[in-house]
Amino acid sequence: MSKSIYVITGSLGFVGFNLSKFIIDSGHGVIGIDISNNSDPLNIWRYKESERIGIETVKADISDKYQIESVANKLSKIENVKSIFHLAGLAGVRKSIENPDQYYNVNLRGTFNILQLFKSIGAESLVFSSTSSVYGNIPAEHFSKENDPLDTISPYASSKLNAEKLCKLFSNLYKLNISVLRYFTVYGGAGRPDMSILKFINLIYKDKPITIYGDGNQERDFTHISDICKGTYDSSKLKGFNLTNLGRSNPEKLINVVRVIEEKLGKKAKIIFKPQNEIDVNRTSADISNSKKLINWDPLEGIESGISKTVDWYKENKESLEKLS
Ligand SMILES: NC(=O)c1ccc[n+]([C@@H]2O[C@H](COP(=O)([O-])OP(=O)(O)OC[C@H]3O[C@@H](n4cnc5c(N)ncnc54)[C@H](O)[C@@H]3O)[C@@H](O)[C@H]2O)c1
Repeated sequence: MSKSIYVITGSLGFVGFNLSKFIIDSGHGVIGIDISNNSDPLNIWRYKESERIGIETVKADISDKYQIESVANKLSKIENVKSIFHLAGLAGVRKSIENPDQYYNVNLRGTFNILQLFKSIGAESLVFSSTSSVYGNIPAEHFSKENDPLDTISPYASSKLNAEKLCKLFSNLYKLNISVLRYFTVYGGAGRPDMSILKFINLIYKDKPITIYGDGNQERDFTHISDICKGTYDSSKLKGFNLTNLGRSNPEKLINVVRVIEEKLGKKAKIIFKPQNEIDVNRTSADISNSKKLINWDPLEGIESGISKTVDWYKENKESLEKLS
């Protein structure tokens, strides 16, 4: 029997690249779809690594209906396309305030185009990556799937919440299996350099100052990429429409994360404290009771061992990444 093929949008991104590797390591095939940003060294690095491990990357812009129709045409000729993981998108709360139109175009229009592609090629399921940012400023103990309707506080969160609703509509209307996952601050190897953990590792390693907005006591439910890959993959087996949180459910203070990085690197951080941005929430914490029930979600990687692995990845790869920048 020929092996199952999984389609991953955003396959050159942090989560998409790691999920591709996870699926290849499980013995299946992957076709990636990504706009492929040549000005981003990490995107180029992931592209080369993807090629090396046998992943075909189709270059396409998900916000362009015609490009995605042409990808759908190509995919409909391939047998055994089992599921689609829709991870392509524009992330980042602050940047979305400067550029809301791009965020709606890619995150909302792009999701619509990928849902149309899913409907037309007849795969078994689609998994969409949403975000804990949809919870906005509500108290963290209420971060559960029951909190709907929600008031979002950034174009990023609003574009994702509306994309979630599109997913639900498509699932109900066309009887499609769709799972929406709200990720909580994912970190790990090949991660986004704009996110705190890899950014801090890089700066502390180079003896450069790091900036903390606020007093460092804000808490994030940092979740290691290995747990996210497993939960995302397992969600592709679910039937009907599902919406659930993927987070470690054990928030950590930002300042403690810095202390762990210092310990792992054997270096002291130079910290510049600046006033907290009003769109930054104080605490995120995932209620994962629904994920436990649906996919037996049990995040295993603790912050100490997760940061240790991320530091190891950074040390192994920083030279090849620097050559690309
Ligand atoms: N990393 C996190 O902590 C986190 C948390 C919550 C939600 N998410 C969501 O998970 C998804 C993956 O996040 P990530 O951290 O891997 O982000 P990322 O920025 O590393 O990856 C996104 C990928 O999408 C691609 N892309 C962007 N615009 C595109 C377009 N128009 N057409 C095709 N491809 C396009 C980019 O080239 C990139 O490779 C995103 O949708 C993000 O919103 C991530």
